[in-house]
Amino acid sequence: MNKILRGGLAPRSIRARLIVTYLVLIVVPLGLLGWFMLQTLDHIYLARLLDDMNVEASLMAESVADDIAAGRTIAAEDLLSHPPPPLRAQARVFLFDKDGQLIATSDTASRSLLGQRIIEYGVSAALAGRSTRGIEENSTAGVPIAYAAQPVLNGDQIIGAIHMDYSLTDIQTAQRELRYEIIIVVIAAWLIASLIGLRLTRGITAPLARLSTAAADIASGDFAHRVPEDAPTELAALARSFNQMAEALQKAEQARQATFANIAHDVRTPLGSIRAAAEALAAGAVDQPDLRPRLLNGLIEHAQYLGRLTDDLLRLAAYEGGGLVLRRIAVDAARLIEQACQGVEAKASANSVMLARNVSASLPRVWADPDRVLEILFNLLDNALRHTPTGGQIRVSVEADAPRRLLWIHICDSGPGIATEAAPHLFERYWRGDYRRSGAGVNMGLGLSIVREIVKAHGGAIAVVNLPGAGADFHFSLPFAPG
Ligand SMILES: Nc1ncnc2c1ncn2[C@@H]1O[C@H](COP(=O)(O)OP(=O)(O)O)[C@@H](O)[C@H]1O
Ligand SMILES: [Mg+2]
Repeated sequence: MNKILRGGLAPRSIRARLIVTYLVLIVVPLGLLGWFMLQTLDHIYLARLLDDMNVEASLMAESVADDIAAGRTIAAEDLLSHPPPPLRAQARVFLFDKDGQLIATSDTASRSLLGQRIIEYGVSAALAGRSTRGIEENSTAGVPIAYAAQPVLNGDQIIGAIHMDYSLTDIQTAQRELRYEIIIVVIAAWLIASLIGLRLTRGITAPLARLSTAAADIASGDFAHRVPEDAPTELAALARSFNQMAEALQKAEQARQATFANIAHDVRTPLGSIRAAAEALAAGAVDQPDLRPRLLNGLIEHAQYLGRLTDDLLRLAAYEGGGLVLRRIAVDAARLIEQACQGVEAKASANSVMLARNVSASLPRVWADPDRVLEILFNLLDNALRHTPTGGQIRVSVEADAPRRLLWIHICDSGPGIATEAAPHLFERYWRGDYRRSGAGVNMGLGLSIVREIVKAHGGAIAVVNLPGAGADFHFSLPFAPG
């Protein structure tokens, strides 16, 4: 069955499948029910009719018994004196003597047969003393006829027989009408089901069609396409996910374009300086002892910047592409913090910035790659130093969240803090607040995105809040080492 359905009998579109399902579910049971009802009604009605006829025939047999025994003639109208109305109108009664000769009949058309022996169903059985009833299927009239026959008794003696029959034309007509009605009801149900089915399936197929158009648009680069989210629950969820995906793709595309523009810009400025310096040297500055070291130092500085830029770009590309391989060990965070602080100590004291550590000795070890944690710390300390004015201070502190098994490391500075509108973008690639501020383009806006990738790879989180007085508090978490 399944194979047949899969093999092509089942329509290919969801809409057609649903409609066929509705129709089969509605029409098949309805048809069966109608057919069954028709059969049952028929059966019950005929059984009732035959019972009535049987009772009626035996009542009549009783009422005519005395007259027959006394040899009196029986008037035709007496034969249908008390049957119930439907019988009275349609039934025919035949009365026979003990030899099977017709002695009375309610049927005017059969009057000419009086005195003759005619064959009627059940008469010979009745004359033999048996009461019979039944349906005569192939009568001469061409319609089924219900009949009942009873012996007429005088004491124990059979003195005649009574036969009553009833044409089932009316019942056949009624049956046919009922059949038509059932067929009409089934067809009406079919139509209603089709309409409802069409409506319901449109609710499913229309959103699907919109989704597939939108997906095609996005595939061809139109990332602005969104689909309406008014659909049945599951499809609404699908539409929502689709829109989120479209938005993410659109953002990624915008970021890609912005990245290219940023890289080109970041390369062009130092390249321009390098070219100017090189041209100056070529034009004779190389022989001027006061100019030469300045130009050469500038060349070195810009080349270093370009080196750092490409290093950062390569690292970020690798990290984002899943190339961040962590060599995790149980490591003492306090030791890493000390190492990082010593690394920036010289720069801090050159700016008269105080570098305070508030790190307890008895901290749980973290499960981390020490080199990558140092990279985080250097980046955050470098930012803090760059934003802290002369005479300010930087504080590094640690707090343990034992229930969640996380160690939080805070780097707080006394700089300007983070502007509200900058906060959501801080960790985005290439985002920098104080664009072009520091001469040879030290800040490329890549540091925090690299930091975020490393923290994420460790299963930690990173956030920033402004401190009540002034300054920013960058903090990130690392998981405790197992055990
Ligand atoms: N400690 C800080 N105080 C204020 N602003 C900061 C601080 N650290 C980072 N920022 C802001 O976040 C931006 C992005 O930082 P980052 O990704 O490290 O790039 P970069 O340091 O190259 O500018 C910075 O340009 C700066 O505007
Ligand atoms: Mg930075």
